[in-house]
Amino acid sequence: MYQEIDLDKIDINAEPPAEEPARQYYFMAKCREWVKDFEQQNGRLPKSCVTTFGCQMNARDSEKLAGILRQMGYVDEPDEEKADFVIFNTCTVRENANLRVYGRLGQLNRFKKKHPHKMIALCGCMMQEPQVVEKLQKSYRFVDLIFGTHNIYKFAELFVQCKESDRMVVDIIDTADKIVEELPNERKYSFKSGVNIMFGCNNFCSYCIVPYVRGRERSRNPQDIIREIEGLVKDGVVEVMLLGQNVNSYGHTLDTPMSFAGLLRKVEQIEGLERIRFMTSHPKDLSDELIAVMAESKKICRHLHLPVQSGSTRILEKMNRRYTKEQYLELTKRLRNAIPDISLTTDIIVGFPGETEEDFLETMDIIEKVRYDSAFTFQYSKRSGTPAAAMENQVEADVVKDRFDRLLARVQEISAEVCGRFKGGVKDVLVESVNDHDHALMTGRMDNNLLVHFPGEEALIGKIVSVKLEECKGFYYMGARVLNE
Ligand code: 5AD
Ligand code: SF4
Repeated sequence: MYQEIDLDKIDINAEPPAEEPARQYYFMAKCREWVKDFEQQNGRLPKSCVTTFGCQMNARDSEKLAGILRQMGYVDEPDEEKADFVIFNTCTVRENANLRVYGRLGQLNRFKKKHPHKMIALCGCMMQEPQVVEKLQKSYRFVDLIFGTHNIYKFAELFVQCKESDRMVVDIIDTADKIVEELPNERKYSFKSGVNIMFGCNNFCSYCIVPYVRGRERSRNPQDIIREIEGLVKDGVVEVMLLGQNVNSYGHTLDTPMSFAGLLRKVEQIEGLERIRFMTSHPKDLSDELIAVMAESKKICRHLHLPVQSGSTRILEKMNRRYTKEQYLELTKRLRNAIPDISLTTDIIVGFPGETEEDFLETMDIIEKVRYDSAFTFQYSKRSGTPAAAMENQVEADVVKDRFDRLLARVQEISAEVCGRFKGGVKDVLVESVNDHDHALMTGRMDNNLLVHFPGEEALIGKIVSVKLEECKGFYYMGARVLNE
């Protein structure tokens, strides 16, 4: 857990320390000096905006960036136009994600023309692609700073470099050299938090760019993870989401190897922590030990996100997923035998190269058999550098779109039926916010991730309360609080 460090005691006229994280605190202190000057000249503190694209890993990285900016003296500004410093934490998992970043950059450029002192930075997965950085250097000269996924811990240092230079600063490294602990972060929610347990991915699913942009799998030491969660709990957090591209292979690369189930057992013992979630699970690595730990646990949510990607064994093989349709179905059976009320969610890709109508019907069949609580459906997106991008028989766009529409329609029908199964029951709900539309209502989340709206007061935010589920509206419930004796 990050310790409060008094930045004002750091001697910024001395040489920067070589070791981390002390080096980064030195640069944060240095930025403070610059912030003080800004305040004197402008009569206000500088404002920063961190915009996240993509997954929960990126969301967590953004909290780290926001924490560093806060230490440097910046105040948070949600409006990109008004912020003095804007950073996009990018995603590149599908082409659409990249296109959105370029579109939004165009808009930032217009803001910068009006306010030339504005600083623009880009980081995250997209920056690990050399052709992206080339394009930015050529056609997006107004960007001030570019860095990647492996050196996010160096943000304060790069920021100083950028301030001291009048040219675009680019710092991309190909492989992660270290995991730096004990850096600040600014959580989006006071009562729940993501916690990285590992970085990178070794699976090389043939469509996926993640192993190339996030590097090889590295697990954090269990002591560091536990210490971080204990600190979060002291700070009021009741729910953690353990994050990794493939949490089921956690710990294999540690000096003293440890299983993910073993880690969960330790996390379960943390007093004051009430809920544990994790994401994402690869079906090929999901052990019986993990199923047993989930079944016994009082804290692990009865929810598993188990990406299937396709229902066709032939396509799964080409995807390099290393399980068959039958093995996947057998796994869901074992899960449901051990944890009967478990909610299963998934990711599905439609239109992988060579996918025939027959293969697609296997996907339609697996969703009938598993009956997911919800499924994220994606049209296959060609990512250059991945094996699938070079495969023959790329499926025509109109065929992909037609299959996608058919799949989505059925996924939604099933989801509405499955989500309705809790009607009339009472569930524990973590209260998250005042309802956006009706301020007399509170919005909370059940352990299976479904939302519930119920009459209540703001003081309940961050608490777990019992709610009777009165009406299912498809993907959420309306309910009423049940007061326990
Ligand atoms: N095209 C479409 N979807 C993809 N995903 C990953 N790579 C691609 C791609 N090239 C999906 C997978 C993964 C989710 C995070 O994104 O379903 O589980
Ligand atoms: Fe990509 Fe497969 Fe790794 Fe998930 S497990 S990040 S889909 S390569």
